[in-house]
Amino acid sequence: MSFLSRTVNSSVGCKTLMAVSGLALVGFIVAHLAGNLLVFAGPTALNAYAKGLRSYLPLLWALRIGLITAFILHIYAGIRLSRRAQQARPQAYVKRKTQVTTGAAQTMILSGLLLLFFALYHLAHLTFRLTHPQFAALGEFDVYAMLIASFQSPWTSGFYILSIATLMLHLNHGMASFFQTLGLDSRRHASLLFMAGPVFSTLLAAGFIAIPLSIFLGLIA
Ligand code: HEM
Repeated sequence: MSFLSRTVNSSVGCKTLMAVSGLALVGFIVAHLAGNLLVFAGPTALNAYAKGLRSYLPLLWALRIGLITAFILHIYAGIRLSRRAQQARPQAYVKRKTQVTTGAAQTMILSGLLLLFFALYHLAHLTFRLTHPQFAALGEFDVYAMLIASFQSPWTSGFYILSIATLMLHLNHGMASFFQTLGLDSRRHASLLFMAGPVFSTLLAAGFIAIPLSIFLGLIA
C-alpha cells in the first residue's frame, strides 16, 4: 500500500491531511488579507501590489497550484472523515442527542460547501471578472476600482460579509480540531488554545469584513 492510500485509509491520516491542508489554506488567507488591507492605503498602493503579484508569474502559479492542491485535499479528507463517521454507526440512533460535539462541528460540511460556493463566485467576480460587465472598461490592475464598484452594492457586500462570517465559524472549529489532531490540547495548554481559535478567527473576519463594510458605508471611495 502506498503512503497516500495508507494515509487516506486511516482516520488519523485523514485528520492529519485535514490539519496540514487547512494550515496551508489559513496561510494563504492571512497573506491575502494583508494584501487586501492595502485598500485602506488608497488605489496606488493596492494596484501596485496587484501588479507586483503578477510580475512573478512562475511563483504565482506555484502558489496557485499549491493552493488548489490544499483545497482539494482538504475537501477530500473532510468527505472521507464524514463517511467514516457514518459507517462506524450504520444504523441511525433511535433518538438523536448531541453530546460533546458543538453546533459548529455539525455544520462543518455545510459551512465548507458555502465556502466552496463563495470561492467559485469570488474567482468569477474578481479574478476572471465575469460577474460585473462594467469591469471590462477598467485597467488590468485596477483592483481598487473593482472593489469600490462591487461593494457599493448591498447584495455583493452582504454576500461577502455572510461568507466571511461562515469562514470565521469554520475556522474557529477547524482550529480546535487542529490542536486536537496535533495533541496540543493537553490540560497545560487548554485554556490558552481554547482562546486562540476564537481570537484568531474573529480578528481575521474583522479584517476582511472591514473592506466591504467601509466601502458600502462610503468610508472609502
Ligand atoms: C473582503 C474580502 C476579500 C477581498 C476584498 C478579496 C479580494 C480579492 C481580489 C481583488 C482578488 C483578485 C486578485 C487579482 O487577480 O489581481 C482575489 C483573488 C482571490 N481570493 Fe480574495 N478577497 C477577499 C476574501 C477572500 C477569502 C475569504 C478567500 C478565501 C477563502 C479568498 C480567496 C481568493 C482566491 C483563492 C483568489 C485567487 C488568487 C489567484 O489569483 O490565484 N478571498 N481576492
